[in-house]
Amino acid sequence: MNALWIFLLISMGPIASHGYLEFNNVRCIVRDRTFVSFDYCFLKSVNRTYKYFSMKTRILNLPVNNCVTTFQVRLRENKRILYNFDVKLDACKFMRERNNVLGNYMYQMFAPYSNINHTCPYDHDLFVEKLPVQYVNKLIQTVIPEGRYYLNSTWATEGITRAELLLYITKN
Ligand SMILES: *[C@@H]1O[C@H](CO)[C@@H](O)[C@H](O)[C@H]1NC(C)=O
Ligand SMILES: *[C@@H]1O[C@H](CO)[C@@H](O)[C@H](O)[C@H]1NC(C)=O
Ligand SMILES: *[C@@H]1O[C@H](CO)[C@@H](O)[C@H](O)[C@H]1NC(C)=O
Repeated sequence: MNALWIFLLISMGPIASHGYLEFNNVRCIVRDRTFVSFDYCFLKSVNRTYKYFSMKTRILNLPVNNCVTTFQVRLRENKRILYNFDVKLDACKFMRERNNVLGNYMYQMFAPYSNINHTCPYDHDLFVEKLPVQYVNKLIQTVIPEGRYYLNSTWATEGITRAELLLYITKN
């Protein structure tokens, strides 16, 4: 799957336009209130060229020493998955080994703006602080074709989904 994805990444690159990415909306959804809540989760437009995403969790059951996360990118109109963009990762193992291509791709998008950047266990709340849309755009602008998408990311510990993050994006 990863090899296929790399192939697509390289072959699709030149034909994808260099247009701009817009973050339309973000939703942080609590699936288990006994485990986590969000202090905040929002997009903010500072001006025409600077828009960012911030999010902070309040984890009620620390430390976190196991986590399974999924990432899917789907087209909004028909829910079809873009390329094979459907990842399921043991997050603690990934943070130790960093050996999943799609995982690394997702990780580098928010890591510089987050405190998730170490191995398990996590004994603190997690945040993404002022992740600029422009920064993400630079990383993916040649890869994603024009269209309307959403990223669906789920986070589970002990086999129970605790939270879900939905990010709605448009590429023009
Ligand atoms: C937008 O806001 C950022 C941060 O305050 C600033 O650095 C930048 O110069 C602003 N851009 C424009 C076009 O006003
Ligand atoms: C992780 O990110 C935090 C917050 O941005 C930063 O203070 C810290 O130095 C980083 N740690 C590592 C190991 O990169
Ligand atoms: C996101 O993914 C989860 C798990 O696959 C699913 O239950 C949920 O319905 C999805 N949400 C959307 C809006 O697609």
